[in-house]
Amino acid sequence: MAHLEVQGLSKSFDKTVALHPTDLSVEQGEFITLLGPSGCGKSTFLRMLMGITLPTSGEIRLSGRRVDRDPPERRNISMVFQSYALFPHLTVLGNLKFGLRMKRVARNEQQQRIDHAVRICNLGAYLDRSPKELSGGQQQRVALARAIVMQPELLLFDEPLSNLDAKLRETLREELLDLHQRVGTTSLYVTHDQDEAMAMSDRIVVVNDGRVVEIGTPTELYRAPKTLFTARFLGNTSIIRGLSSGCEVRLPWGQVVKSDRSAEGEVDLSIRPEDFSVRPSEQGPALVTGAQFLGASIRYRLSAGEHQVMASVPGRDSVLPAGTRVELVPLAPLHVLENGGA
Ligand SMILES: Nc1ncnc2c1ncn2[C@@H]1O[C@H](COP(=O)(O)OP(=O)(O)OP(=O)(O)O)[C@@H](O)[C@H]1O
Ligand SMILES: [Mg+2]
Repeated sequence: MAHLEVQGLSKSFDKTVALHPTDLSVEQGEFITLLGPSGCGKSTFLRMLMGITLPTSGEIRLSGRRVDRDPPERRNISMVFQSYALFPHLTVLGNLKFGLRMKRVARNEQQQRIDHAVRICNLGAYLDRSPKELSGGQQQRVALARAIVMQPELLLFDEPLSNLDAKLRETLREELLDLHQRVGTTSLYVTHDQDEAMAMSDRIVVVNDGRVVEIGTPTELYRAPKTLFTARFLGNTSIIRGLSSGCEVRLPWGQVVKSDRSAEGEVDLSIRPEDFSVRPSEQGPALVTGAQFLGASIRYRLSAGEHQVMASVPGRDSVLPAGTRVELVPLAPLHVLENGGA
């Protein structure tokens, strides 16, 4: 049995179905991300695991033990919120001690756990401060340390980095991952930031409209999404309809390219920018309509007849001006979506 087993978990608020019956298995030590647009049910899912929202149906098991009827404090699960949710009237140290006191953890063990969390979250200089004397990033570190000292079996994160600026978000993302690897706690992370999900997760659960759309590793979901929704939600893509025969597809502008799946008839392709390179050519089928220099790469917008595609080439190349006619050079077999991309 997996470390966390969720079966048929659902939640309705009056007429709104926040989450349709959902199954999920998470292995010990895994880092799983729930990724989906605003309002798709991510927070509701986490809140039911934590025990602060009552499920409409379903069962939750942690290490084989049924926990969905236990109050939050009996579940051995900790949650880190977007808003940090620190106790404003307590110092940093007071915040770290609070849960341990409630749980009547012995004094010397409290001290050991706090020392450890303070060290790995880099909080030594702030223990006497109150939360309002800290920056957002520092407050989030305190929230994280407060979760870790409880030595939970499961750590839940609800968009913990989304109130921080881009640079700090990236730094904390790395710290968080590093911490996950050292502490090894099974983690469920919620975000609507696809880069964050790809960079951090062992597996991503793509959610839309209260349903799990697809589950896979970041590379599986990015390179070979099954659904149009995943293809579009995770990274940039151009969806192009082609005519397939075996593992070859004829594109609307006449070019025949290899595909990653054998099929007959019309198919929808999810073409990532890095699937094509470009080469200037008077006879080429495409025109450069825009170029973005991103440092490490150049991202071209191209039009081939009435179709738009993107191509990403190394940033060292010189930038082709708009209006340049180019050939599209496939660098990998193009990905065919399932069910015609439905
Ligand atoms: N207490 C509530 N009462 C009524 N409806 C609710 C309640 N909480 C959530 N909902 C509804 O349930 C759906 C899912 O909400 P949820 O907060 O889980 O979404 P989310 O994926 O976390 O979104 P976001 O990315 O914006 O945080 C939404 O339609 C929301 O309006
Ligand atoms: Mg939410």
